Amino acid sequence: MTTDQRHYHITTFGCQMNKADSERMAGILEKMGFAWSEDPNQAELILYNTCTIRDNAEQKVYSYLGRQAKRKQENPNLTLIVAGCVAQQEGEKILRRVPELDLVMGPQHANRLEELLQQVADGNQVVATDPIHILEDITKPRRDSNITAWVNIIYGCNERCSYCVVPNVRGVEQSRTPEAILQEMETIGQQGYKEVTLLGQNIDAYGRDLPGVTATGRHQHTLTDLLYTIHDVPGIERIRFATSHPRYFTERLIAACQELSKVCEHFHIPFQSGDNDILKAMKRGYTHEKYRQIIEKIRKYMPDASISADAIVGFPGETEQQFENTLQLVEDIGFDQLNTAAYSPRPGTPAATWDNQLSEEIKSDRLQRLNHLVAQKAAERSQRYFGRIEEVLVEDKNSKDSTQVMGRNRGNRLTFFAGDINQLKGQLVKVKITEVRAFSLTGEIV
Ligand code: SAH
Ligand code: SF4
Ligand code: F3S
Repeated sequence: MTTDQRHYHITTFGCQMNKADSERMAGILEKMGFAWSEDPNQAELILYNTCTIRDNAEQKVYSYLGRQAKRKQENPNLTLIVAGCVAQQEGEKILRRVPELDLVMGPQHANRLEELLQQVADGNQVVATDPIHILEDITKPRRDSNITAWVNIIYGCNERCSYCVVPNVRGVEQSRTPEAILQEMETIGQQGYKEVTLLGQNIDAYGRDLPGVTATGRHQHTLTDLLYTIHDVPGIERIRFATSHPRYFTERLIAACQELSKVCEHFHIPFQSGDNDILKAMKRGYTHEKYRQIIEKIRKYMPDASISADAIVGFPGETEQQFENTLQLVEDIGFDQLNTAAYSPRPGTPAATWDNQLSEEIKSDRLQRLNHLVAQKAAERSQRYFGRIEEVLVEDKNSKDSTQVMGRNRGNRLTFFAGDINQLKGQLVKVKITEVRAFSLTGEIV
């Protein structure tokens, strides 16, 4: 047996897209003969898959990189890679800041990792950030979980929200074909995965770049159609999707979610602001009234549906009154979960150039006030589960208490209960909820 096995380490920042890309890149590296190392300092190849959605996300990457760049000075055989959204945004500029890097690669190049590493092996310092058509990936991803899996259905984003870097770094929309998605789902189902989350930055845009229109003039391959196409894949018990955009969310989709039993009653629909003038300045393309109507409709079809969202506070020019309109929306809707952020000016976005930026104090004060309300409303929402019997898909041990297992109910609430992970992993279990907290539940098996 040889001991010259090469090890790789990947640290992933950012959203589910990046996590899905990392799993595919890990699959490629394992196919090339690398073995996973949890500790970056034991690895000969280190890949940072980066996020630039807010400034603090970007700065974190530079501090990680600095440490490994030092290590590389003593160990020239180390291969150092920056992938993802910072790589795409900064391109060659990163090389000037961190000359030790071997490879800088944008998200659209994730599936090309092997070919790019060959160029590195040939002695080149490589920058791969030109826009390309993403090829279907045939390598088996190394997925983090063996119960739940992500499946990309559309890459990129054609919206131009005035605060957002995503269209700059992820490129234009590119839908995968229903056939490719179905095939990936069938493989996943055979491998024993139980839950799939379909991914897209604007998942409601799925299919609008694919050929084919119906007699009534709508695109032939919409997200709704896709749900019907994939619903009956054997082995897959639950289907989720994210992220929904209020501008394109349809009643037809809501009806399909109600009809299709595997599709969970959980919707992630960011609203960003509860104020119409701010929404307009953000270029979001809807009003808070339209947003409220969507939630009402969902609840008409599925009264128990969980609703989560994203919101930004302290957008340029946001007045106290406009911020309070966001609080009011959160008060009225009662989100099960809300990801909140203080506005961060991003290079290459319109809002960053405006002269009505707010101070950090105002932004962090508003963020705290919003977070306080979010926790309170989430705790109220959790109450409805008390005493109820919920279906939980067991994913893993409770990392804080090994006598317990953890999973999620259909509404996506984390749920803990006493049990043996070896027997329960991957099972759908009926659990009676005995304790509720803002963002998680505890129960007992029935
Ligand atoms: N495609 C999704 C969101 C992708 S980015 C959508 O349209 O909603 C994830 C979240 O980051 C956004 O929903 C937004 O709330 C937040 N975000 C994006 N740009 C930001 C910025 N410049 N400052 C603060 N938060 C931001
Ligand atoms: Fe960014 Fe808007 Fe696209 Fe979402 S829809 S990724 S917020 S530009
Ligand atoms: Fe971040 Fe890129 Fe996702 S900027 S949020 S990792 S699309």
